[in-house]
Amino acid sequence: MSEDDLGLNHPTGFRHYRSYVGSSKKYDIMAAHQFNLLTSLGLRENHTLLDIGCGSLRGGRLFITYLLPNKYFGIEPEEWLLEEGIKKNLGQEILRIKKPKFSNEKEFKLRVFNQKFDYILAQSIFSHATQKQILTCLSEAKKVMTESSFFVGTFYLGDANNTKTEWEYPGPVTYTKDFMKNAATENKLECKFLKYEHLNGQTWMVITNSANIQKIPDL
Ligand SMILES: C[S@@+](CC[C@H](N)C(=O)[O-])C[C@H]1O[C@@H](n2cnc3c(N)ncnc32)[C@H](O)[C@@H]1O
Repeated sequence: MSEDDLGLNHPTGFRHYRSYVGSSKKYDIMAAHQFNLLTSLGLRENHTLLDIGCGSLRGGRLFITYLLPNKYFGIEPEEWLLEEGIKKNLGQEILRIKKPKFSNEKEFKLRVFNQKFDYILAQSIFSHATQKQILTCLSEAKKVMTESSFFVGTFYLGDANNTKTEWEYPGPVTYTKDFMKNAATENKLECKFLKYEHLNGQTWMVITNSANIQKIPDL
């Protein structure tokens, strides 16, 4: 593939299926990073996974092939991005075999699939989201989680909480750990921050029901 096909010369956020979701140079390893963490947190082929803001299926292409049919669910508002991701990363034959389900939902309505999930992934979503979007997302997540579900997310840790009222892209926004803890508590959930080093300097966290907090592996 040419440099152009790989989007190697485009800045992050440029309208190309690789650069839109982050540095094109890390498109491969950011996929592996997400996949490795989720499988280390216990993701198995029979689990259901909701990938919030699945983009061009950077990580999704690995999850879809790993999981059994009907177990992967992706939400992505940018239709062109998802379509390009399917075309360039997977193709229709894998969709026919694995039957992933997609939605272009924009308001974090996670009940759109009428389905509960064992794992929910929000990789580099809260790094652009408003406080209101995060609170909506967690309140919706609570409704589609079982007692043992793990919500796995990332955010940029900072001294202050983002106060913007619109999704900020591609420029990132920051939140404190207290904000994330309180957002979880408001929804009768608990939050654990992982030591697991994020490749772009974000912080990984796992949010789950209180009874389940001890079951989060010490990563
Ligand atoms: C930094 S990218 C991360 C994509 C993907 N999670 C990954 O790691 O490859 C952020 C994604 O969030 C999507 N997004 C924007 N607004 C959203 C919303 N309201 N709900 C869900 N995703 C959204 C963007 O279109 C983009 O694909």
